[in-house]
Amino acid sequence: VLASQCGYTVRPDPWGNIQIYVSLQNCYAEQEVWARFCSLFVCLYYDYLHVLSLCQALRSLLSLWKIVFYTPTERPILPEELLGLGYGFQASPTQLIIRSPYNTAEAYPQDVAGVPMQVFKSSLFYKHLWMMTVVDAAAACPTGGAVFTETLITWRVPRHIFLLLSSHTSEMIELHMGINGRRLDQYEMLAKNYTMSVTEAHIVITIPVGSPDGCHKSYTFNDTYYVEYSIEPMLEILWRESPHPHETKYKVIFPITTPQFANPPRLNDYTVPENRVFTVQLSTFLHDVELVNITFQNALLTVAEANERGFNVQEQWFSNGSKAFNLQVPFSDSAVLRSSTTYSLSLVYGFLIFPELATFSHKESVTATLKDIVLPKVNGTCQQNSFNIIIKYGNQGHNFLTWVGKSPLTAEQFSFHENGTHFAIMVPFDAPSVAFEAIKPAAIKARLDLILRDPINNWNISVFSLACNFPLTMAECFPNGTMGVLAVKLESVPSLSPSQLTLTDPSCKPLFSTSQFAYFSFSVNSCGTTRRFLDGVMMYANEVSLKTGAHLRTEEPEYL
Ligand SMILES: *[C@@H]1O[C@H](CO)[C@@H](O)[C@H](O)[C@H]1NC(C)=O
Ligand SMILES: *[C@@H]1O[C@H](CO)[C@@H](O)[C@H](O)[C@H]1NC(C)=O
Ligand SMILES: *[C@@H]1O[C@H](CO)[C@@H](O)[C@H](O)[C@H]1NC(C)=O
Ligand SMILES: *[C@@H]1O[C@H](CO)[C@@H](O)[C@H](O)[C@H]1NC(C)=O
Ligand SMILES: *[C@@H]1O[C@H](CO)[C@@H](O)[C@H](O)[C@H]1NC(C)=O
Ligand SMILES: *[C@@H]1O[C@H](CO)[C@@H](O)[C@H](O)[C@H]1NC(C)=O
Ligand SMILES: *[C@@H]1O[C@H](CO)[C@@H](O)[C@H](O)[C@H]1NC(C)=O
Ligand SMILES: *[C@@H]1O[C@H](CO)[C@@H](O)[C@H](O)[C@H]1NC(C)=O
Repeated sequence: VLASQCGYTVRPDPWGNIQIYVSLQNCYAEQEVWARFCSLFVCLYYDYLHVLSLCQALRSLLSLWKIVFYTPTERPILPEELLGLGYGFQASPTQLIIRSPYNTAEAYPQDVAGVPMQVFKSSLFYKHLWMMTVVDAAAACPTGGAVFTETLITWRVPRHIFLLLSSHTSEMIELHMGINGRRLDQYEMLAKNYTMSVTEAHIVITIPVGSPDGCHKSYTFNDTYYVEYSIEPMLEILWRESPHPHETKYKVIFPITTPQFANPPRLNDYTVPENRVFTVQLSTFLHDVELVNITFQNALLTVAEANERGFNVQEQWFSNGSKAFNLQVPFSDSAVLRSSTTYSLSLVYGFLIFPELATFSHKESVTATLKDIVLPKVNGTCQQNSFNIIIKYGNQGHNFLTWVGKSPLTAEQFSFHENGTHFAIMVPFDAPSVAFEAIKPAAIKARLDLILRDPINNWNISVFSLACNFPLTMAECFPNGTMGVLAVKLESVPSLSPSQLTLTDPSCKPLFSTSQFAYFSFSVNSCGTTRRFLDGVMMYANEVSLKTGAHLRTEEPEYL
């Protein structure tokens, strides 16, 4: 009560900060400022409808006897009762100030030129000895007059408020617009797109919604995100009345808050399917909104948990002070559902609005279609004398290189043939690309290595090996006394050159040789061949060797 009697107002702003408003004419301020006006009206809108001041020839000798309020019916009140009713009252020889709480029972609404106003009318009766003076005191402050679109606030104030003027021949000689209690010049108004115009009945001020002089606030209702915008314009009017010059200054400070406009969050999907990561941004929110959690497929994660899982949840601020939330979810995460080549992610964002801790949520889902890359597949079988290899193309066609053993495959080799989806090759076991792993009594264990390689990056798309046992006669005796022996180069002796192999008698060289084989044909009486008789079997033996180093021993029984 003291605060309002003295012109102080305390109120919380939408974010819970306490703002203290001090009336220009509070109890303790200097009052000379107003001396040159005959009447001053100030409308402040938090607690009270404010002030009248006058320069009637009041004398301190006069004492206030009685006050009559018109509500609009007459209601007499004794001065002692004023304070109890919450009014502030100051009288000096030249000035009388009455502050009225805005919601006082003695003020009443009245429509002035289509604008709703709160009106306060009174007569003050002064008495000194036998003399009585009556002073009429009135005030009127707008309580409405603002209309809104989503982008513009239009505020109308009556051009003439006859209730405040003593004659009907008044002229408006000054008009100023201000914001937050500060008067603006025309350049500032232009820069901020504020306009002020005068029509027959009104002064009309327009203010773009979102002007930086005001502020936005978030709200939620029915799980929907809303924002409202507040700004506090000021209007100052100076009227001069004639024929007796009398100035009346009128000042209105009028907080305006727009209705709450739904501001549904918008999802921007920046996903590039080939990167296999959903990259999305949900915008835009005011600074008083915090993201708390996100519900994926079946899992609810706090922002911290989501970041631990690698989702990179980040706030992104815009230059106008609003913000967005960014999120990245790899296609490989279990939060992502896959059906053939389509990946989908469903999200429920959970938000909190500060300081009231109101919650709301927002559902989104995103999908991405990827032409999944199917890699080619290799399979093979062992045939009588060859490896039979079939390569099934992936969905990228024949865009790979095939290496057989240590050499690239060309279409001319290995009876290559292909249809639209596969190609096949038959690699003979004795081809140079085949590696021999071991020799068995009547067979050879051979292995084919095959690599499919990405021609650009040289990556191994597929590495394939197939080992087969091929029947092979290593030594043979003919009835005419000739012996044939095949020497094979094994993988384990990579430096061996078969053409340099000889029999025991080093002058006996291979009949023919390749990089893999040496074939000897010799009479059992020659080339250092020895013989033994063993359990009724004649055994001829010779040795295939390189002069220095490894040798292969050939022993062949001959049945008698
Ligand atoms: C004022 O309005 C003009 C035209 O509508 C616009 O281009 C400009 O950005 C606005 N300026 C401000 C500060 O809002
Ligand atoms: C709340 O939102 C739902 C879904 O958007 C809507 O169907 C319903 O009518 C809304 N209820 C109210 C009271 O606005
Ligand atoms: C703030 O900037 C963002 C990004 O430019 C925009 O989407 C949003 O609408 C702006 N918000 C306001 C209140 O102007
Ligand atoms: C997730 O966030 C929403 C919105 O803030 C909240 O209502 C809900 O309780 C939160 N869930 C959990 C498990 O914290
Ligand atoms: C390879 O071919 C064999 C014989 O045709 C078959 O049994 C096997 O399943 C195939 N393997 C693959 C991986 O396709
Ligand atoms: C192509 O060849 C493969 C392997 O021989 C065979 O399975 C497939 O059916 C053939 N496709 C066509 C279209 O002929
Ligand atoms: C491809 O496979 C071969 C044989 O296994 C290996 O030697 C080579 O390092 C691999 N290349 C790459 C790039 O992995
Ligand atoms: C002995 O017979 C074999 C096999 O028929 C033949 O290759 C070889 O030339 C013959 N040797 C001689 C000396 O006739």
